[in-house]
Amino acid sequence: MKTIPVKSIKGAYKIVVGKGILARSGSLLSGLFRPGARILVVSQTGISRYARTVAEAITRKGFKVSFHTLPDGERAKSGKELFRLLHVLLAKGFERKDGIVAVGGGVVSDLSGFAASVYLRGIRYVNVATTLLAQVDSSIGGKTGINLPEGKNLMGAFHPPALVISDVGVLDSLPAKELCASLAEVVKYGVIRDARLFRFLERNAGRILEKNAAALERIVTDSACIKAGVVSRDEYETKGERMILNYGHTFGHGIENAAKYRKIVHGEAIGIGMAMAAHLAAEIGICSPEFVRRQLALLKRLGLPVAVDNLKIRSATVLKAMMRDKKKAGGRLRFVLPERIGKVTIKTGISAGELRNILRLFGAR
Ligand SMILES: NC(=O)c1ccc[n+]([C@@H]2O[C@H](COP(=O)([O-])OP(=O)(O)OC[C@H]3O[C@@H](n4cnc5c(N)ncnc54)[C@H](O)[C@@H]3O)[C@@H](O)[C@H]2O)c1
Ligand SMILES: [Zn+2]
Repeated sequence: MKTIPVKSIKGAYKIVVGKGILARSGSLLSGLFRPGARILVVSQTGISRYARTVAEAITRKGFKVSFHTLPDGERAKSGKELFRLLHVLLAKGFERKDGIVAVGGGVVSDLSGFAASVYLRGIRYVNVATTLLAQVDSSIGGKTGINLPEGKNLMGAFHPPALVISDVGVLDSLPAKELCASLAEVVKYGVIRDARLFRFLERNAGRILEKNAAALERIVTDSACIKAGVVSRDEYETKGERMILNYGHTFGHGIENAAKYRKIVHGEAIGIGMAMAAHLAAEIGICSPEFVRRQLALLKRLGLPVAVDNLKIRSATVLKAMMRDKKKAGGRLRFVLPERIGKVTIKTGISAGELRNILRLFGAR
């Protein structure tokens, strides 16, 4: 079991990574909540067995455990589900000393964390991350929230978890498509900060796709270390560093949005976004064609799409979505671009014409 520390203004916390550690949830939690505290285990139907393992382990330590089940998918990140969860906490008499344990992927932790941030002005919660995306990304850093009819993640709070538990054993049941898509975020960490991780992915793609536990533990630990470091230094995205986590995301968000979040999942869009960002970086002369080729080969080996042909989206629609995203980032379209494996830089002032050419080159109409 590996332990990674994360700093936060609201209190430091740990990420623990290992195989079979769900059964140890009880002892991991016992330092965080008082004996006899109430714990609500929030999860989804498809992963109820993991929720039960966690619940049994924490019940053995004397906590009073109850369950709450969320619907599947993005619709769980809604005002309706937020209020349903808050009413459950009230009905069960939860107090400030009590807490939530979110067992699931990013959807469960975003909603549970947001509920924890507002219930009685804030109670503690723990993320038990069960998807690769959650283990390498969404469970870390304290961003919580829900979607509004106008768009994704428009309401939320920074509310860091009290602990993150990432058991790579649970990834055994994760569908292959989910695994591959999340690997795009792992490639991202390699490119932005860690050439060794990038090489490990190149050499071990086969083992990773077969869900070899040691290989998964290595990539989860390395990715979590990088995200933990970045959010420890720039928790509220005010110093610029957290922005590097957006590598591939400017194009990627545009693609997801233009495809109306159908036919393509987030990680796949980010993989294509990184391929586009690398192409752009090579065109303006900040990275080598060799880098572009290596990254493209790795994305393909990990089973990720590297073009948008099948989505039937228009370059103008993607550009429009990118411009809308830009408004949230202070009016300038900023690109995180690779210089070499392990090092990125931020660039502005890329013309719409240049972006359109790249989008078309990658199969937009
Ligand atoms: N807070 C952040 O910093 C942050 C960062 C990135 C993404 N996100 C959010 O995360 C969400 C996506 O998260 P996700 O990709 O984990 O998807 P998800 O939470 O929707 O999980 C995908 C599906 O897999 C199931 N599942 C979970 N673990 C499983 C397992 N071990 N075996 C089998 N099935 C399992 C879930 O029940 C669900 O049906 C988005 O809403 C996104 O906005 C948040
Ligand atoms: Zn992402």
